[in-house]
This record gives sequence, C-alpha cells and structure tokens, in this order.
Amino acid sequence: MEYSELVEKAKEARNFSYSPYSKFRVGAALLTKTGKVYTGCNIENIAFGPTVCAERTAIFKAISEGEKEFEAIAIISDLKTYVYPCGVCRQVMSEFFKADTPVVCATDKGEFTVIKFSDVMPYCFNEIS
Ligand code: THU
Repeated sequence: MEYSELVEKAKEARNFSYSPYSKFRVGAALLTKTGKVYTGCNIENIAFGPTVCAERTAIFKAISEGEKEFEAIAIISDLKTYVYPCGVCRQVMSEFFKADTPVVCATDKGEFTVIKFSDVMPYCFNEIS
C-alpha cells in the first residue's frame, strides 16, 4: 500500500476524533504486515487524564485483534505543519515497532514526511533484565 493511501485512511479516521476540549483532531492509520489497516482517532475525556491519542487507539485496536507486526503508521491532524507523535505514543510504539518502521507524518492537507522509528525515538528503554 502506498503511504499516500495510508495517509488518506488516517484522514478519514480524523473525522471521528472526539476532541471537544482541545478541538485538535488527530487521525492515525496503522498498516500491519498482513496488509490490514487499523485506524484510530484521539478520544478525549472531561477528566483529561483518560484521553487517548489517535496512534495509541490504532495500535491497541490492532494488538487486541492479534496483530503484532507492523509495516507503517500514518498520522494526521489539522495542523498545516507535520504532526509528530507524543512521547507516550512513542513509548507504546517502541514496544512493537522496529528501528526501521516508517512513521508517516502528514500535514492537514495530506502532504507527508516519512521518518524511521529509530529517528522518531532514539535510545529506547528496551531491557529490564
Ligand atoms: N494527540 C494525538 O492524538 N496524537 C498526538 O500525537 C498528539 C496529541 C491528541 C491528544 C489530545 O486529544 C489532543 O491531541 C491535544 O493534545
């Protein structure tokens, strides 16, 4: 699948964003090695803390359906500039992404830049024993 198509799916997911507090809509689309796409949007909460980002929504949907290997993720917001994943999402990505997994960061219109995960998050915490 072309990155532009993945960005398009992230854009569709952005329509479902539940963001009455920030009014900042985000959509994500995660392509699995098996060729499936899991989309996600940010889902906010009046207590703020329970808010979940679009990227984590997509990743958790995929993991909860048995997917563990990922080809790429695309992210889009309403910013005219590229949107990059937050620190919490980077930590979640580090659990499942490889160093060379492409993170496709788009502008509101769908132009995008592709960054490999190890550049998005170098020096991951990845060992506990
Ligand atoms: N947000 C995402 O969904 N993904 C990101 O990478 C950055 C932030 C959401 C969380 C919150 O609903 C809103 O954007 C403002 O921070």
